[in-house]
Amino acid sequence: MVNLRRVELSDLPQLREIVSTAFKHHRFWVDNKLDQDKVKEFYIKSIDKMVKDFFENSDKRDFIVAVEDEKIVGYITSLIDDERTSIFGFRWGVIWSFALREGYRQKGLGSKMLEKALEWFASKNVSQVDVWTDSENIPAIQCYEKAGFRVIYSGVTLTLNMSKK
Ligand SMILES: CC(C)(COP(=O)(O)OP(=O)(O)OC[C@H]1O[C@@H](n2cnc3c(N)ncnc32)[C@H](O)[C@@H]1OP(=O)(O)O)[C@@H](O)C(=O)NCCC(=O)NCCS
Repeated sequence: MVNLRRVELSDLPQLREIVSTAFKHHRFWVDNKLDQDKVKEFYIKSIDKMVKDFFENSDKRDFIVAVEDEKIVGYITSLIDDERTSIFGFRWGVIWSFALREGYRQKGLGSKMLEKALEWFASKNVSQVDVWTDSENIPAIQCYEKAGFRVIYSGVTLTLNMSKK
């Protein structure tokens, strides 16, 4: 049985495993000019930062992990964006990162975790929640849409190799 709870520091090694392979639609994975080990290092550093940030700012951060026995099978991180909140005058939340291990997807667990994240936002009187995802990431988009999110904006990333200029 999979249970949801708040992150603990000892979860980090397993979270690093998850982020090392989860984001196959992301700009860094699809860019075959980038060294894959360095791409993994990038994601590992990001999750390390998110865990640290959660413990340092836990009133404005949430970090839920899904656990089966001792195994961490997924996580979702949420935050209240201070800058947007102060400029726009309402509490603006962001789903920062969200992933499940392969083998635990498409079973409703992601929806359950997203619901838990939305409960936390509601408890913090957040008025609006944004999430960014890759336009190719149909499972993620569908999962968010099922929870009531709607696509509001879709951008492009351009890059320039200066050595070829
Ligand atoms: C995005 C993710 C967390 C969704 O979790 P999940 O447990 O698979 O989602 P659910 O099983 O709750 O599915 C919710 C809805 O999403 C859609 N969905 C999920 N997986 C899908 C797939 N592979 N293809 C199409 N639709 C899919 C379905 O509409 C589903 O609703 P339904 O089962 O009633 O039809 C999971 O796919 C994942 O970990 N992906 C890799 C990491 C990632 O891309 N994270 C998102 C970063 S923003």
